[in-house]
Amino acid sequence: MRNTRLDIRLLSGAGGAEISGVDVAQDLDDGTIGEIRDALNEHCVVFFRDQELDSERQKAFARRFGEIFIHPNYRGTGDDPEIVMVRREPGDTSYVGEDWHADTTMVAEPPMGAILYGIDVPPYGGDTMFANQYLAYDVLSDGMKRMLDGVRAVHSDIMVAGPQAGKNKGRSTKHRDGPDWRETRNSHPVVRTHPETGRKMLFVNASYTVGFEGMTEKESRPLLDFLLEHGNRPEFTFRFRWEKGSIAFWDNRSAKHIALGDTGPFRRLMRRVQICGDRPV
Ligand SMILES: [Fe+2]
Repeated sequence: MRNTRLDIRLLSGAGGAEISGVDVAQDLDDGTIGEIRDALNEHCVVFFRDQELDSERQKAFARRFGEIFIHPNYRGTGDDPEIVMVRREPGDTSYVGEDWHADTTMVAEPPMGAILYGIDVPPYGGDTMFANQYLAYDVLSDGMKRMLDGVRAVHSDIMVAGPQAGKNKGRSTKHRDGPDWRETRNSHPVVRTHPETGRKMLFVNASYTVGFEGMTEKESRPLLDFLLEHGNRPEFTFRFRWEKGSIAFWDNRSAKHIALGDTGPFRRLMRRVQICGDRPV
């Protein structure tokens, strides 16, 4: 069904669009879904407020944009493999999304996006920041763009999952880290072309990118560090303040994100569904 006309309000000059006039728990018509997809492609992240969404309706909304992605490091940790409950409790010393990253980029076909729903939201703190990776690429010099042309980066989950990462200790949201855990490693172009907009964007992140293909980690580090820092420059970023019932739906190809750790004494509980993507080119 089509509720009312979509009302789109931009959050910043760098990206982010808050959409009102739509109830995503309803069966939306193709035109409305198309408008949401267009806004996502253009603004990197779309937000909705005051939504009432159970797990099934959240998954139904996600399926309008693609198949649901099953996260290999959370499989078997919850009741439903299509859902990850992202929970932070007071006293946690580590939490999911604590570095600037795109989600799950160690797989050959990283998810195209994620839909995160606020269930238990602190009165302040725990905002999510996003960074527009189209802008990050666009402002690079012609020399740097030439140098990066054809370079591939290696992405691995070795820093964020598995027993060696040591992340489960101090963290309420647990991922798989038993003896059967194995590293997942794939390479992707450093400069990726968006499959829907055709625009180029920077595609490296601090949580998963370990170096450049054909180079040692030590050789890779200076340029990689530059690109990681560059991608988070303040003018590429925007920030979302959560309320109970808020949704953030990000394009995991064109945006990096980070969850801020300033929740202090408060609990923060979100429900995440990821959507399958394609092989970066
Ligand atoms: Fe994330």
